[in-house]
Amino acid sequence: MGEGINDYTQKLIDLRRHMWMAGVEVELRRLIWQIAVVGKYISAKIHEANRKQAGFKNVYGEEQLSLDRASDEILKNQLGFSGFVREYASEEQEGIVKLGDGTEKYIVTADPLDGSSLVDTNLAIGTIIGIHRESVFATGRATLVGALYITYGPLITMVYSAGKGTHEFVLNREGEYMLSEESIKLKERGSIFSPGGLRRDWTPAHRKLVEQLETSGYKLRYSGGFVPDINQIIIKKGGLFTYPALQKSPQGKLRLLFELQPMAYLMENAGGAATDGREDILNIKVEKLDQCSPVYIGSKTEVQLAKQYLSA
Ligand code: F6P
Repeated sequence: MGEGINDYTQKLIDLRRHMWMAGVEVELRRLIWQIAVVGKYISAKIHEANRKQAGFKNVYGEEQLSLDRASDEILKNQLGFSGFVREYASEEQEGIVKLGDGTEKYIVTADPLDGSSLVDTNLAIGTIIGIHRESVFATGRATLVGALYITYGPLITMVYSAGKGTHEFVLNREGEYMLSEESIKLKERGSIFSPGGLRRDWTPAHRKLVEQLETSGYKLRYSGGFVPDINQIIIKKGGLFTYPALQKSPQGKLRLLFELQPMAYLMENAGGAATDGREDILNIKVEKLDQCSPVYIGSKTEVQLAKQYLSA
């Protein structure tokens, strides 16, 4: 058993030590560590791609996989070697991929490189991971035991939860993920909002909600990358991200399993909330891998407000 999550006096704590102190079970912490290491490889790939765009050639003259496919390959292979993962489901794969012999503890879901179309703009992008104990065809609340995302921005940061708070780490120059903020706690109400989808496609109820936020003085903060947009709400301790039901796509754009469940888990563990407008995101059952859902995620006041407007 560890020393207790709050018992230290100095802040120089790396990811592995933090998870040990937090009492995260051994296999889960090894798995989270392994995924965080994969983040370093993916960031190297992003860097390489940017160098190519800047006029550098691939010395081997190989046909290159797209960045999201390459990130998926790295992640899948590393998880296969880990010995802790029996199944892998990814935005980049058609179906669930079996890894190992089926006796391994976890099922991992991944959006290996979310927002990859932003790479050429040099805006931040990210990796989103869900870690499940049981079949993913259930609610997130029933199966998730951990979640994390990695943000590739001016800094590489990693935010994880294993059900005991949500914590942020920054990759330092020595290649270690160091604790930068422990047990992040959102305020009841924030001051920023990130509204996805075109205004002309919004439903009347959603439009009224956004008008209410604008009238109340919420500042618009939307990058077009789900990871940095959610990270912004977590680090600024409040606000609302939404990708709503649209007139022509009532289920919105974002994927329940790969994108929404992990972020909802992290947000709830930071004292926030996530809903589709009626139901908690973590209470929606996954029926198919590419299932989408509208989402309102962030601090409690705004999520509650969204529910009020959408049910009116
Ligand atoms: O799902 C991919 C994604 O790029 C997310 O990262 C982002 O939140 C969303 O789509 C942006 O969508 P749009 O381009 O419609 O604003």
